[in-house]
Parts: sequence; structure tokens; C-alpha cells
Amino acid sequence: MKLIVCKDYDEVSQEAAKIFEEQIERKPDSVLCLATGSTPLGLYRELSRANQAGGVDFSEVKTVNLDEYVGLEPTHPQSYRYFMNENFFNHINIKKENTHVPNGLGWAPNECAAYDDLIEKLGGIDLALLGSGLNGHIGFNEPADTLCARTHVTDLTESTIEANSRFFEKKGDVPTKAVTMGMGNILCAKKIVILITGEEKRPIVQAMIDKQFSVTTQIPATLLKLHPDVTLICDRAAFQKG
Ligand code: GLP
Repeated sequence: MKLIVCKDYDEVSQEAAKIFEEQIERKPDSVLCLATGSTPLGLYRELSRANQAGGVDFSEVKTVNLDEYVGLEPTHPQSYRYFMNENFFNHINIKKENTHVPNGLGWAPNECAAYDDLIEKLGGIDLALLGSGLNGHIGFNEPADTLCARTHVTDLTESTIEANSRFFEKKGDVPTKAVTMGMGNILCAKKIVILITGEEKRPIVQAMIDKQFSVTTQIPATLLKLHPDVTLICDRAAFQKG
């Protein structure tokens, strides 16, 4: 795993933007896996600015998002489709039909195999952007004894509901289920970039860079050690030398 420790959040966003810009320059029709949450917002701002300045062209890029809440309309302000449109897609020259977010509506399990097929049809993921939950969840692959490898519907843990309640009016409004790519989908990406910032997530960074190279489904982020091309970009607050 390649580790980049930055002085602050802005530098994390800039380092990540460089990797995405290089990827799109090398392969203009790249398939990008994208994440939500507050961590990637700076990167999305950097890339939007670069696109508007004519520096990076998204016209042939395709995207697949990691996850979506079950039960929220795509127009719901807390749905991940809405988040992606508002924070990224509306600001760049990507074709909306080339952007994909799992459908959390209707009979959500139907969406799972279809999403796996879609990723395959697109030719697989060239570059995946990830964040981590406080408990080490990736997408919505929550800590558990066993994990589902492919796209699936999952129950959110109490700690994730609590953490994500900051975006909703009240905790009771947070959906309790989500559709998420599995760690198998994610580990099939050719290249992975994970952004982790803030002191609260220091234990996750520690678990990812520990010298024993242990992996555990109880901290899904550690499964990234199984992948040959992962770059972890964190700020100083999230990094502490072991
Ligand atoms: C959500 C998303 C994850 C994301 C996590 C962390 O739970 N499903 O993909 O990594 O939030 O969010 P934040 O960056 O706001 O800490």
C-alpha cells in the first residue's frame, strides 16, 4: 500500500485530484468508482475547478457509485444520487447517462445483480475512490464476521446511523438499510485511492498500516491490504507513526 501523509485536508484533496486527473488523461473513457460522505467533497471541488478551467475532460468518463440508501427517492436531498449531482456531476462536463448510482427504491435486492452486471458491462472499474466510516466501513460494508462479496442490501450499524444522522433532521430519518457494492467488487478495481482525514479515524489508518499485515472483516478497510495497487492519502491528524 502506498501511503501519502498530507499536512491538511486541502492537500489531501489536491493529491487525490492529481491521481484522478492523470487517470483521465491516460484513459479518457475511464470507469471511476465514486464515494459520498464529507471526505471527498474537497476532491470533487478540485476536479470541478480543473474541468471548468479546461484542464480535465469528463465527456467520455463513466462513473459507478459505491452505494445508496434503501428507500430514498433520487430527488431526496440525502440520497446519494442527489449528493453526487449537487456536489460533482452538475459542475463538470460528464454525460448524466454515464453516471450510475445504485437504485435503492422498489425491491432493492433486484438491483444488486443488475449493478454487478452493469460494472462488468462497462469493462470493470479503472480507479476507485473510497472513504472510510468511523468503524472502518467501506461503501456500506459494515464490520461483521462475514461479508458479502458482491452488491447486496445491508443493514446499517447503530454507529453508522448515528454518524450519518448529522445529515438528516433527526436520527429516526436515517434509513436503516442500504444497497452497496461488496468488497469483492471494490477489490476488482484496477487501482484504488482511499482518503482518510481527522483524528477520529486514526485507529482505522493504524489498522491499515499495521506491521502484522492483518486483515479482518471487523474493519473492512483492512481488506484493502489484499489489493496490489492502493494509495492511502491521509492528513497528519489521521496519521500517527506506529
Ligand atoms: C458513508 C458512505 C461511505 C463513506 C462514509 C464516510 O457511510 N457510505 O462511503 O466513506 O460515509 O463519510 P465521511 O467522509 O463523511 O466521514
